[in-house]
Amino acid sequence: MIILGIESSCDETAAAVVKISGRRFDILGHTISSQINIHKKYGGVVPEVAARNHIINIIPVVEQTLHQAKIQPKQINRVAVTYGPGLITSLMVGLETAKTLSFAWQKPIVAINHMRAHIYANWLENKKIIFPVMCLVVSGGHTELVLIKDNSKFKKVGQTLDDAAGEAFDKVAKLLDVGYPGGPVISRLAKTGNAKAFNLARPMINANNLDFSFSGLKTSVLYAVQKAKRTDQKFKADMCASFQQAAIDVLVSKTIKAAQQYKVKTIMLSGGVSANLLLRQTLSEQAGYFGFEFLMPRIDFCTDNAAMVAVAGYFGQTKPYQKIKVDPNLSL
Ligand code: KG4
Ligand code: ZN
Repeated sequence: MIILGIESSCDETAAAVVKISGRRFDILGHTISSQINIHKKYGGVVPEVAARNHIINIIPVVEQTLHQAKIQPKQINRVAVTYGPGLITSLMVGLETAKTLSFAWQKPIVAINHMRAHIYANWLENKKIIFPVMCLVVSGGHTELVLIKDNSKFKKVGQTLDDAAGEAFDKVAKLLDVGYPGGPVISRLAKTGNAKAFNLARPMINANNLDFSFSGLKTSVLYAVQKAKRTDQKFKADMCASFQQAAIDVLVSKTIKAAQQYKVKTIMLSGGVSANLLLRQTLSEQAGYFGFEFLMPRIDFCTDNAAMVAVAGYFGQTKPYQKIKVDPNLSL
């Protein structure tokens, strides 16, 4: 089966062609047009600007992807597209494009939940997945622990009560005035910093549940910044390293706890924050130490892309295109 995936939920316009044969997922072509440089000057994604740029980019991105994959529309079996969660106007561009292509090419369409797609990025690794799985999903808008019983049975068992992990990285980067998006900038600065320089809060690390809270950690950074009255590079690097360590301590500890509680075989990682090298290394080591299998997407498929949407399209159900509407607040 050959699937065209389309993704436009935030500030990346993406398309991918994935070929599925048996249990193998092969990416024949994929394109991501990022708007980071456009939104950088505003310190965050401006929804109206994002939607306008999706409109400009979407057709060239699809065309380039088909060209790269050496695939003609008639060879495509399905179109898969993200319909939520995300920014409403951004989602509409991808969805309306996919509906139009599905109608024009007479191909079935599958509506995809963006958070489930992040999880399916792991299937692109083509490794045997040993169920049940506990997946830590960490992105700009979500932080969730998801119990996966088989290829399509997902159940949320824990989540953040306030900020998402990626949101905390982005807000702390803003507070320290180090750039945007926060995750990659903080992890880069943290490399030269001392993670023990500041003893920051690790909210809910010992709480008897599988939920998270990152707003307290962000406030603890704010107080430390106000107290220190410093803005030099050494201070910023130490703060980035201390913050990153605190966030990762909580994420890893809760994931191991969830994996033990639900007696799973495998721990999985997904979402934009899973591009963080320290998180990848720490969770992989801890999973091994406690006897779990471990799986994570390769770095370029952690953040938003359409290959993960195409994989989700393989496991999803097709629907008449008239029945599909964007759902910005869709949950898992
Ligand atoms: O999954 P994603 O691309 O978009 C959403 O669905 O939200 O995730 C974006 C988030 C941003 O908050 C970004 O700062 C974070 O992922 N991120 C990282 C890293 N790379 C991206 N966070 C920590 N370390 C990174 N290396
Ligand atoms: Zn995402």
